[in-house]
Amino acid sequence: MNAYIPRPLLYLSRQHDGTLCRHLAQQGWKPHFASSVSDLEGMDLDSQPMAGLLDLRAGVAPADLQAVEPWLALRNIGWIGLTDGASDLTPVARNMLGLYFIDYCTAPCDDAHVDYALGHAVGMATLRSSTAQAFPHAPRPDGMIGNCEAMQALFRSIAKVSRWDMPVLISGESGTGKELAARAIHQASARASGPFIAVNCAAIPPTLLMSELFGYERGAFTGAAKRKPGRIELAHGGTLFLDEIGDMPLESQTSLLRFLETGHIERLGSTESIAVDVRVVSATHVDLQAAVAAERFRGDLYHRLCVLRVKQPPLRERERDIVLLAEHILNQIRKHSPERIRGFSPAALRSLHAHDWPGNVRELINRIRNAAAMCEDGVIRPCDLELHSPAETERPPTLAKVRHAAELQALKEALQRHHERLIDVAEELGISRVTLFRMMREHKLQVRRGELDVVEQRA
Ligand SMILES: Nc1ncnc2c1ncn2[C@@H]1O[C@H](COP(=O)(O)OP(=O)(O)OP(=O)(O)O)[C@@H](O)[C@H]1O
Ligand SMILES: [Mg+2]
Repeated sequence: MNAYIPRPLLYLSRQHDGTLCRHLAQQGWKPHFASSVSDLEGMDLDSQPMAGLLDLRAGVAPADLQAVEPWLALRNIGWIGLTDGASDLTPVARNMLGLYFIDYCTAPCDDAHVDYALGHAVGMATLRSSTAQAFPHAPRPDGMIGNCEAMQALFRSIAKVSRWDMPVLISGESGTGKELAARAIHQASARASGPFIAVNCAAIPPTLLMSELFGYERGAFTGAAKRKPGRIELAHGGTLFLDEIGDMPLESQTSLLRFLETGHIERLGSTESIAVDVRVVSATHVDLQAAVAAERFRGDLYHRLCVLRVKQPPLRERERDIVLLAEHILNQIRKHSPERIRGFSPAALRSLHAHDWPGNVRELINRIRNAAAMCEDGVIRPCDLELHSPAETERPPTLAKVRHAAELQALKEALQRHHERLIDVAEELGISRVTLFRMMREHKLQVRRGELDVVEQRA
């Protein structure tokens, strides 16, 4: 370790451990101590790779863990947890430890293990930051981004339905990526070398939809100067994507059903029957079953289209992908930007992560586009995204909460120091034994078989 160039280290703990900090300083670290997430927010940190040490021992409440999650998700910080043993953690803390941390050290910590873990953490943070720059968007070949469980489940569904040459219905809210999924299914299917023809049933006026789908012969109607093949015919050998199928007028639904049943079409103005081999993938943001019940959509067509089903998750179920998507979107914007855009500030990334996004990815795209145009010095900050900085949204804890946490801490430490000898604990804390019992009851602390046990902690 180089003792002359101190390396930054975030140290988040309810209690400052002087001995640990001295040891870290001797090992060439410069610890930035924070006793709460608000303290972290107030720090002026840049995006250089660094290690983070999070003390999970002092009974971190689930609410605090939630507040720290955007920090754990930052790629430039490699986190190490300090625990009393992973099995002593709450389920939420254990889950976070598995998801975000490089390693954890169990108290009493062996200095060599802490040194090794922190060195490893900063190494991993450097690696992640450099790969993020080298492959900033690393999308799949179909251009879809997503690491979260909901997207991984979607990718598995896409892979499965692609193998079957059967109709697929993709459902999902507006702007969730239904068209991307349809293209992905086509690309992964045996028809990938054939055409992918998309028809937006909501965007084409009902009077034109039939001629668009089925084509027409010369003279079929006024203005039909020459023969034009329809989109179904153009999709021969490939995939026909019927977007917003729920908006298809009933008249076109009947003709489409006939085609799906026979595999043949007739151009408008002709009686010639043409065999067409297509796989139909359709998409809808409306509840088609409800539309069938309301007789706005033909039930027999619904069953023809909805053989295989794919459900597109809304953005609010893809929380862990927001930063990934944001980086990807910014990279797309950079390609056409008249100015150099350096990137998001760490606070902007945290505010993106912490924001309660609805379902539509386009909202995220538009916010980033606007921020890219409005930002100064090429750095996108929370105000450019018109999002609150996480520090602004976080409310300081109430006095009651602070007092409760301090009492709990003092009780636990005194009990541990005196090996649960209650007379000594009461004396040290300057309270009667009756008061000590009452406080232990309030804090749900019990001494069982000589082991201090926190039965349940209040947030
Ligand atoms: N997983 C993803 N990875 C990358 N980009 C995505 C992803 N999901 C959505 N997008 C982007 O979001 C935008 C909306 O996607 P798309 O048009 O496929 O959605 P949609 O569900 O068909 O929307 P609509 O209901 O409005 O037709 C596109 O710009 C798309 O590139
Ligand atoms: Mg669409």
